[in-house]
Formats: sequence, structure tokens, C-alpha cells
Amino acid sequence: MEFNTENYKDKLENKSILISGGAGFIGSWLSETLVNFNLNVTVLDNLETGNINNIKNLMGKNNFKFLKADVQNYRTEERFDLIVHAASIPSPDLYIKKPIETMLPNSIGTLNLLEICRKTDSTFIYLSTSEVYGNAELIPTPETYFGLVNPIGIRSCYDESKRFGEALCMAYFREYNLDVRIVRIFNTYGPRIEINSSYSRVIPRFIVQSLKNEDITIFGTGLQTRSFLYIDDLLDALLRMLTFENIKGEVFNIGSDKEIKIIDLAKIVIKLTNSKSSIKYLPPRPDDPVRRCPDISKAKQTLKWFPKTELNEGLIKTIYWIKENAR
Ligand SMILES: NC(=O)c1ccc[n+]([C@@H]2O[C@H](COP(=O)([O-])OP(=O)(O)OC[C@H]3O[C@@H](n4cnc5c(N)ncnc54)[C@H](O)[C@@H]3O)[C@@H](O)[C@H]2O)c1
Repeated sequence: MEFNTENYKDKLENKSILISGGAGFIGSWLSETLVNFNLNVTVLDNLETGNINNIKNLMGKNNFKFLKADVQNYRTEERFDLIVHAASIPSPDLYIKKPIETMLPNSIGTLNLLEICRKTDSTFIYLSTSEVYGNAELIPTPETYFGLVNPIGIRSCYDESKRFGEALCMAYFREYNLDVRIVRIFNTYGPRIEINSSYSRVIPRFIVQSLKNEDITIFGTGLQTRSFLYIDDLLDALLRMLTFENIKGEVFNIGSDKEIKIIDLAKIVIKLTNSKSSIKYLPPRPDDPVRRCPDISKAKQTLKWFPKTELNEGLIKTIYWIKENAR
């Protein structure tokens, strides 16, 4: 990872941290960064979508521990200074197939970790999602927007359980004055994102299809928009959220504020991979948001954070990694 991490290192030194979902894409990068900062890092993951290879270089280190368990059943007597809750099933193709398994870590899992934090007065960072906004009518979307979500739609297992998780965090903040911090992550990509399953997300799917010169599959017209953040920029934001003071009970949008149509993303990937792929349109997914782009003014102002990696630059790095790692 290339961003300057020195500023956070001193503030985090000698702390202990539990990272649920730490064998996944985001969690493993965070774990690796914090192990290198000399924190005592415990990863809790059931490997539902995560991959043990993501943390294999951490295994055996004195300040690293891996526990294979479900976050909703985890019990401990240990005290952690910080708990990051990243365990979830975040790929739409998979959460639509496994709605119950998706709801549990975001709801019961969040409750379980909040209770541990309450008993030990630990700081809790909840990895929420742009999907809490549903099919937002306000673009770019600020944190104050309430969301437009279908509570019984096929995506509700994910977006409603994340909303419930956020509400639980705020309940613990209001009732127990617990130090909770919520980050609403917008589509993030980079090395270690899941590529080898049929459930992979849009960027890895497009890259794998392009590298194989297979049709690039787009759900709907391709005119729906997203904004894509490179993993280094997300890590930078997470380190700020772990170390800043006076952000108790606050929620931040973290994402790129550059909106792009999915069809244009497909064309860029085809170009960057020098591919012969054509574009194939599939039926739209029900309740798929039409546009998605964050208003990141609050993160800019409070966390002094902004995304630094251009899409092309991040895609080139991701393509390189996928070429090396796709089976
Ligand atoms: N990557 C993104 O674009 C994005 C966007 C918005 C929100 N998020 C959130 O960030 C977090 C991390 O996402 P990611 O992209 O790294 O996904 P990921 O699938 O790579 O990581 C999630 C991890 O959680 C683990 N997990 C799932 N259910 C579990 C359970 N019941 N108990 C223990 N572990 C469990 C998985 O095995 C996996 O290692 C998630 O909470 C996700 O909702 C990610």
C-alpha cells in the first residue's frame, strides 16, 4: 500500500484490535496494515466469502491471531481497544442467493460486537454501505439523506440489515454513550477483491471476462451509474476513522465522487486489457439503484480525506493483480 501511514502509526501503537471479516478484501488489507503498525490484531472470519490466502503472510506473527467463527456466535473475555466490524456478504449475486446468512452478521453480529464493546468500553467502527440509501433520488448523496429502500425487495436482506446495524450502533451511542463510528462505503475495488467465484462484483467480473475475451455481461442498459474507490484510499479513510477524536456517533460517506456509467466502465476495462470482448446485456436486477455517487464533503471537512487514485490507475493495478491471481 502506498499512502503515507506514518501519521496514524503513533496514535495506534500498542493498541489491540478485533477485525471481523478480516480475511476478506477490505478486512485483510486493514489487518495487514495494522499488524505492520505493531498492533495486536485478531481476525474473526468464517471464510464465507473471505480467503485464507489474504492473510497467509500474517499467520505466525506474534501480534496476529486468526479465529474461524461466525461473528454472531463469537464470545470472548478479552478486551480490545478497537473493534472493526467488516464481516458481511457484500456481493449482490451472493446475498440474493443467501439472504438469511446475509442478515445475521449485519444484525445479530453487530449486536454481539456492540455488547462486547459496551462491557469493555471499546471503540466500534461499523462498515456500512452506500446501499443504505437504496435507489437514492438525491445525487450526490449526503449522509443526511434518509434513503429509498424496498424493505421486502430481494436486496433488502443486505440494505435493511445494514440499516438495522447502523440504528443499533446509534442506540448504543445514545443509551450507553459508546464510541461508535459508522462508515458508509461506496463501491471499492483493488487487489484481493474476490475473482474466482461466480459471485464476484462488477469490476473483477468485467476484468476477468475481458482478459478471457468473453462477453462482458451488463445487467440492464448499462446507463446506471456507480462511483469506484481504490482500496488505498479506503484504507486511508479507515485509519483516519480509527484515530480521529471527536467523531463519536458520526457517520461518513467514503467513496469516489466521480460518477461513471457502467457501460463506460466496461469500455475502459476493454481498452485497458486490450480485449476483444463484446458487451452482452442481461435483464436488469430488481431494485438495482439507477445512480450512485456520494457527497463526500463531510469526510473532506472533518477527516481531511479525499480520494487520490484515478480510476485508470487503480484499474491498471487491479488488472495486473487479477492476471497474476485468476485461476
Ligand atoms: N467492497 C465494497 O465495495 C464495499 C462497499 C460497501 C460496503 N462494504 C462493506 O465492507 C465490509 C467488507 O467487505 P469486503 O468488500 O471486504 O467483502 P469480503 O466478502 O471480501 O469480506 C467480508 C468478510 O466477512 C466474512 N464473513 C461473512 N459472513 C460472516 C460471518 N457470519 N461471520 C464471520 N465472518 C463472516 C467473509 O468470509 C469475508 O472474509 C462488508 O461489511 C461490506 O458490507 C464493502
